[in-house]
Order: sequence, then structure tokens, then C-alpha cells
Amino acid sequence: MKKTVVLVVLSILVLALAGVARAEDAAATYKAKCAMCHGATGAGDTTMGKNFKLRPLGSADVQKLTDAELTTLLNKGKGKMPAYEGKIDIAGMVKHIRTLK
Ligand code: HEC
Repeated sequence: MKKTVVLVVLSILVLALAGVARAEDAAATYKAKCAMCHGATGAGDTTMGKNFKLRPLGSADVQKLTDAELTTLLNKGKGKMPAYEGKIDIAGMVKHIRTLK
């Protein structure tokens, strides 16, 4: 009985830690692969962002895109935006974009 409780608590801890790790991964990936164009906060306040006239990722215009639309955009790229299919955790990145609003 006691053993079961310990196991359940441990599993919850492991799952929680894995969740935190994934969120941090997305933030680190964003910093490494996206921030040079979109800016650290997604505001597009970089030389590239200004040249490309990027919309802030936190803006209503970008946030109104559905998860499916963001997934396609990240997978396939668009215009000067590179395609990231198979290169990054796309679902994690979509979640990260939602944190930028
Ligand atoms: C080389 C510069 C560059 C990099 C690197 C880049 N992007 Fe983009 N991104 C763009 C451009 C340019 C657009 C606008 C594409 C268009 O509408 O023609 C864009 C559009 C977007 C959009 C849609 C915004 C809108 O206004 O519709 C999202 C979301 C996005 N990028 C996320 C990311 C993420 C996440 C990464 C990193 C995995 C990333 N981008 C890396 C240049 C870049």
C-alpha cells in the first residue's frame, strides 16, 4: 500500500519534471533558431524583423492563427521563413508561441 503511494508520487514528479523540461526546450530552441528574426520576446524588434516587417508573435493577428495553422507554418515555412519540419519539436513551439502573447 505504502509502496503504491510512493510509486504514484514518483511518477507524478517525473511527469511534472518532463513537462518543465519540454517547456524549457522550446524556449531554448526559440532563442537559438527564431530570436534572430523574431526577437527574444517575439516582438520582431531585430534588424531582420524590421527588414521583413514581421508582425509581433504576441499580437492578436498572429495569436488568432489556430494551432493547426501555426503547425503548418512552422513545418513548411513561408516566404523568407525557413521550414522546421523534423528539425524542432513543432507542438512544443506552438505552445511556446502561445506564451508570447
Ligand atoms: C530568417 C528569419 C526567420 C527565422 C529564423 C524564423 N522566422 Fe518566423 N517568420 C519569418 C518571416 C519573414 C515571416 C513572415 C512570412 C510571411 O508572412 O510571408 C515569419 C512568420 C512567422 C510566423 C507567422 C507570423 C505572421 O505574421 O503570420 C510565426 C508564428 C513564426 N514566424 C514563428 C517562427 C518560429 C517559432 C521560428 C523558430 C523556430 C521562426 N519563426 C524562425 C522569418 C523568420
